[in-house]
Amino acid sequence: MKRSPQRHREKNRKTARVSAVAKTMADRKSPPYKINSQNWQGFMTELEKLHIRPYQNKDEKDTIELWHSCNLIVSWNNPKLDIERKLKVNPDLFLIGLIEDKLIATVMGGYEGHRGWINYLAVSPEMRRKGIARQMVGEVENKLHKLGCPKINLQIRSSNQGVIEFYKKIGFSVDDVISMGKRLAGQ
Ligand SMILES: CC(C)(COP(=O)(O)OP(=O)(O)OC[C@H]1O[C@@H](n2cnc3c(N)ncnc32)[C@H](O)[C@@H]1OP(=O)(O)O)[C@@H](O)C(=O)NCCC(=O)NCCS
Repeated sequence: MKRSPQRHREKNRKTARVSAVAKTMADRKSPPYKINSQNWQGFMTELEKLHIRPYQNKDEKDTIELWHSCNLIVSWNNPKLDIERKLKVNPDLFLIGLIEDKLIATVMGGYEGHRGWINYLAVSPEMRRKGIARQMVGEVENKLHKLGCPKINLQIRSSNQGVIEFYKKIGFSVDDVISMGKRLAGQ
């Protein structure tokens, strides 16, 4: 049976719609099933799923586990104590990143009225190179900016070349300074 011109146009429109959806799915390497409110998350990138919020007490175990997996725990720092101290000063600058309720990133910001600081930036090894650290630092930068902070400083172990490259990529530069420190007795 010959199709009327109107039915022919309608069929072409439907085919075009289906092809557009199929292309999006192919781009994301996902199986071609129907998108609805239950499964639309399956088409989001990890970065799109990232939820950033201030640290809460219930996050302690996962946070310390993440820091261990990122080799951030050194013998002279006690992570529990570091968290405890941080929660007394600008706790809202201590952020965690979650993907589907799993803690996969942290960043600990600080501000003493002159310079902002960043510590404990960590992204779990399997979630790296997806823009997550850039997003975490961006969030702290926004918060520091709102507080009137003019500049952010941070310290990196000189052997940690990868992290230096990361910070350069997101707009930081190496200052011509020597970092010094002094332990205070009893702390
Ligand atoms: C450093 C770290 C936080 C980066 O996290 P990440 O989520 O992979 O970083 P992003 O994906 O946001 O990277 C942003 C940019 O930096 C680049 N980058 C990230 N890690 C890099 C590395 N090791 N070497 C070179 N470039 C790097 C990315 O390619 C990206 O560049 P692009 O925008 O041109 O694509 C992560 O590797 C980590 O947790 N390391 C261990 C903990 C640590 O050492 N923290 C710092 C303590 S000072």
